[in-house]
Amino acid sequence: MKTPAPRETILSLFRQTPDGFVSGERISDELGVSRTAVWKHIRNLRQAGYQIEAIPSRGYQLQQSPDVLMPEAIQSGLECQLVGSRIISLDEADSTNLQACRLGDEGADDGLVVIADRQRSGKGRMGRRWESPGGVNLYASILLRPPVLPFEAPKLTFLSAVAVCRAIKNCTGLQPTVKWPNDILLNEAKVAGLLNEMSSETDQVHYVVLGIGVNLNMRAEQFPDDLRYPATSLAIATGKVVSRLGFTRSLLQELDALYQLYLEEGSAPVFTAWTELCDLTGKRVQVDCNNLLIEGTMVGLGDDGALLVRTSAGKIESIYAGDVRPV
Ligand code: BTN
Repeated sequence: MKTPAPRETILSLFRQTPDGFVSGERISDELGVSRTAVWKHIRNLRQAGYQIEAIPSRGYQLQQSPDVLMPEAIQSGLECQLVGSRIISLDEADSTNLQACRLGDEGADDGLVVIADRQRSGKGRMGRRWESPGGVNLYASILLRPPVLPFEAPKLTFLSAVAVCRAIKNCTGLQPTVKWPNDILLNEAKVAGLLNEMSSETDQVHYVVLGIGVNLNMRAEQFPDDLRYPATSLAIATGKVVSRLGFTRSLLQELDALYQLYLEEGSAPVFTAWTELCDLTGKRVQVDCNNLLIEGTMVGLGDDGALLVRTSAGKIESIYAGDVRPV
């Protein structure tokens, strides 16, 4: 097993003590370093935004942590069976999906989560860009190795969608809706997007990467002017700052529970949960399928996750890719 970095060891010592006090001597024993080296580690933590007081004869006390997504803090007390078995948290990535795919190609384990504070080239659906400024949002990619055939894998998008909606409800009390195939909306503005990628052979999935981007604390001026849809963040919708750490923990917990359910019972219960979150069922929609426009009434999801639309001619079209909008 990899030895934790000194900073992670110190933070974990703070978490283990009920009053938050840890003596310099204890830290020095745990790390096997001098008291001067301990002081330097404490200074580095302070520079990274941790508020640590030194109280004579009692030791150091962690009074406040910055809202950073450290693997240890995310994992502490989490009751996941698989998701988050390993978490990599990066200050910056080109795209967490790209990173997770690279690690997947190298044989990374089922359940790996890659998170980045900011992305240089965040990927959206259909080659679009996902705006990914630092310090405000969640950009996460979850690597799964489901024992299913490749045609089944796209159904996992619905797990991410339901998990994101549940985490939003848990953390803010707000009830988001879903828009096929992978948008999460609050007050009809996009608050999160999902991008699944897969590596497979004809009859075997190597891995699936569930890419999840959630606008948590992004401010209005941080959104680009040329967005295709109105966008929002949880902070804009609630008027309050949302804890990135709390949200990430809730999301991983919900996703893990849904993935266990999917493995045990297949996609039907997840599709039911998704359908309950969709307010376009029975409404008129227009779907832009690569410039072919299909208009009709949204019927629901097919068994394979396709969007079913009844056209004015009474025919039910199964749609596998496209942008939906209410008309
Ligand atoms: C979309 O709605 O177009 C999908 C957006 C998906 C964005 C997330 S952010 C984390 C992961 N890494 C990426 O590069 N993209 C996904």
